[in-house]
Amino acid sequence: TGRRDLAGKTVLVTAGGTREAIDPVRYLGNRSSGKMGYAIAEAARMRGADVILVTAPTALPLPTGVEVIQVESAREMFEAVLKCFPRVDIVVKAAAVADYSPVRKSSQKIKKTKGALILELTPNPDILLELGRRKEKQILVGFAAETEELLANAERKMKEKNLDMIVANDVTCPETGFGSDFNKVTLVFPDGRTKELPLLPKKQVAMRILDEVVMLPRFSELK
Ligand code: PMT
Repeated sequence: TGRRDLAGKTVLVTAGGTREAIDPVRYLGNRSSGKMGYAIAEAARMRGADVILVTAPTALPLPTGVEVIQVESAREMFEAVLKCFPRVDIVVKAAAVADYSPVRKSSQKIKKTKGALILELTPNPDILLELGRRKEKQILVGFAAETEELLANAERKMKEKNLDMIVANDVTCPETGFGSDFNKVTLVFPDGRTKELPLLPKKQVAMRILDEVVMLPRFSELK
C-alpha cells in the first residue's frame, strides 16, 4: 500500500539485545535477534517517516534510508535515545534491554580457576521509564516480553512508564517472540482496550502496530 501517513514525523525505534561487558571477550546478553525492531523501522520508513534506528548488535544487515546509531550496552542505548528524544515524535522500544550489568568490567580476560565465579550485577537505568517522565508531545510505545501473566504485567509496565501503547509479547512459544520471523502479540492501551493479533510475520505485526499509532488521539496533536 502507498500509505504515507507518517510523512513529516520522526520515529525512533530501538532493536536488538544489549550486551553488558564482563571482560574484553565476554558479555551478558539475551536472545533478541533485532527482527521485530528492524521490521518496525522499515515499516515506518515505507510510510514516510524519518526513522532513527538505535540498534544493539544483531546479525541483520543494517537497513538503508534510515539513520542508524549502533550501540552495545544498555547504558549506551540510554544515552543515544535520550539525546535524540527532543527531536522525535514517536518512540517504539522493541529492544530487549538488559536489566542488570556487571558492577566491574575486568580490563583483562578473567582466568579460569577451580572455585565458583561470582558476578556482581547492578541495575541499569530504565530507558522507557525515563522517556515517560520526560515526554511532552511524544508518543511512547513499549514492548513487554513476558513468560507469565502477560496482560497484567504489560498493563503494569504501560502505567509505570507512562506509555501510549504496549505490545504484550508472550515469549513462551518458540514460533513467536525472540528470534522467530513470526510474532503473536496483544496491543494494550491506557483506556483499557486490548487488541489481540493472530500469529503473523513480524513485518505485518510492525504494520499493525503503526496502524494503531496513527489512530491514537495523541497522534493528531503532533505537529
Ligand atoms: O528481536 P527479536 O528476536 O525479533 O524479538 C523481539 C522481542 C521479543 C525482543 C521484542 O518483541 C520484545 O518483546 N522486546 C522487549 C523486550 C524487553 O526487554 O521487554 P521488557 O518487558 O524487559 O521491557 C519492557 C519495555 O521497557 C521494553 O520496551 C524495553 O525496551 C524497555 N526497557 C526495559 C529495560 C530497560 N532498562 N530500559 C527499557 O527501556
